[in-house]
Amino acid sequence: MKQKNAHTWERDELDWYVEPTKATHQLLTRERFMGPVWDPACGGGNIVNTLIERGHQAYGTDITRRVDSTVGWFHGERDFLQMINPVAGNIVCNPPFFRAKGAEAFIRKAHALAWGKIAMFVDIRFLAGSVRAENLFQELPPTRVWIVTPRVSCPPGKYLLDGGKAGNGSSDWCWIVWDKTAPAPTSPAMGWLTAADADWQSPSEQRATLRLTSSMSPEEAAA
Ligand SMILES: C[S@@+](CC[C@H](N)C(=O)[O-])C[C@H]1O[C@@H](n2cnc3c(N)ncnc32)[C@H](O)[C@@H]1O
Repeated sequence: MKQKNAHTWERDELDWYVEPTKATHQLLTRERFMGPVWDPACGGGNIVNTLIERGHQAYGTDITRRVDSTVGWFHGERDFLQMINPVAGNIVCNPPFFRAKGAEAFIRKAHALAWGKIAMFVDIRFLAGSVRAENLFQELPPTRVWIVTPRVSCPPGKYLLDGGKAGNGSSDWCWIVWDKTAPAPTSPAMGWLTAADADWQSPSEQRATLRLTSSMSPEEAAA
């Protein structure tokens, strides 16, 4: 993947741009998902792996396999837009953007297949399209919009595979959430995900922290 400058890349033909796992941790700090979760554009699996790490049953599909054959959660190479049978009732996904057309097609397809919650990670500018304001967002009013802060970078997957590191990023991102189990909202709620929302500890890390703080003096633990 040729780098044009620090933050601009030649388009990946399948729009494989990788969000950091902390964006999913932030979402999961604020949104509960009941039952299995599916990422239909799972790529290398950042979203699925984070869901599993946080105790969810989670699966991924992608139009092309980007994970090795030992990965048990991968449910096969599937063109999401052609799928008829859902893999799970909840969907969490960073869809291929394809100049917003891909993201909109994924959102519409997710609504056709999911029956729980849908969370889509998109460039914030996706919210501002006038045609989407009058069509997509009227037809499918979001339940919540979570603004991701601090800004995250989503470099091409091939760049990361070649050992590249995520930089500062030049776009802002949000999670749009639809809760199909709740009544349709008159207008979406909005909130900010902060750095603190990404601070997650696994149960074993929590136990280790607890052991450490309980062996400290009250002054040390408060410091
Ligand atoms: C923005 S990336 C997702 C990155 C992913 N979260 C990761 O950890 O690598 C979008 C993914 O959508 C996949 N994709 C593109 N068109 C698709 C389609 N029609 N159906 C399913 N997956 C598709 C690409 O192969 C790519 O892996």
